[in-house]
Amino acid sequence: MTEDPHPIPQHIAIIMDGNGRWAKQRYQPRFMGHRAGVKSVEAIVQHCVKIGVSALSLFAFSSENWRRPSKEVTLLMELFSLALKQQVKRLHKHNIRLHIIGDTSKFSDNLQKQIAYAEQLTKDNTGLIVNVAANYGGRWDITRSVQQLAEKVKSGEIEPEDITEQNIAAGLSTASLTEPDLFIRTGGEQRVSNFLLWQLAYTEFYFTDTLWPDFDSKELDNAISSFCQRERRFGKTSEQIQDEHA
Ligand code: IPE
Ligand code: IPE
Ligand code: MG
Repeated sequence: MTEDPHPIPQHIAIIMDGNGRWAKQRYQPRFMGHRAGVKSVEAIVQHCVKIGVSALSLFAFSSENWRRPSKEVTLLMELFSLALKQQVKRLHKHNIRLHIIGDTSKFSDNLQKQIAYAEQLTKDNTGLIVNVAANYGGRWDITRSVQQLAEKVKSGEIEPEDITEQNIAAGLSTASLTEPDLFIRTGGEQRVSNFLLWQLAYTEFYFTDTLWPDFDSKELDNAISSFCQRERRFGKTSEQIQDEHA
């Protein structure tokens, strides 16, 4: 088999961290960092379209972020709503499919309507898939999938032994996508913070100190170059992998 051993990552997942510190460095309120972060999202989405990435999953608001001061949470919700309003048409024009993953039932009716509209408008697009994780938690995702399977066992539709890795994966919010090839976290922390726990099992990790509002297309290219130098072995030996590509 002579496939390219270093294809560019098809699915990139990013924890967009460091907005607050970016603002603090400038003696500005944290909100200004979140606002600047939206600009980075625009630039990174555009770059992913340009280089031919298939899917981009962005962590925008975790299930734990409700613990922040209520004023910050409110401002983040307003910013999410504003960004949807301003960006949806442009995303649609670029053939992008927008998908929100997470427990959106906790959002205001208005925001839920905006999300439904954006997903409906872009659902037949065939270009980049942008997954925005909002009120998302990896544990929530796995728990929900297992609960659905447990319901099926209860109703007699399936047997307990039908609870397989494949069936659990099929119930996750990213079921229609391949697992992320590359995970990026900006802002210097080296943790997963309850992002795509199940889906990251064999993903390559890349951490950078760059704060999210400063993360640009060049930084993304650096992350991809690092990814291209990795040998993904999936449990096999290096020799096996090299033979496969010989
Ligand atoms: C990430 O930036 C954005 C969200 C979690 C919404 P932070 O707000 O966590 O920024 P830092 O980590 O405080 O700098
Ligand atoms: C993770 O960032 C969530 C998002 C980027 C949306 P946090 O800044 O909330 O993560 P912790 O709390 O430092 O782990
Ligand atoms: Mg943070």
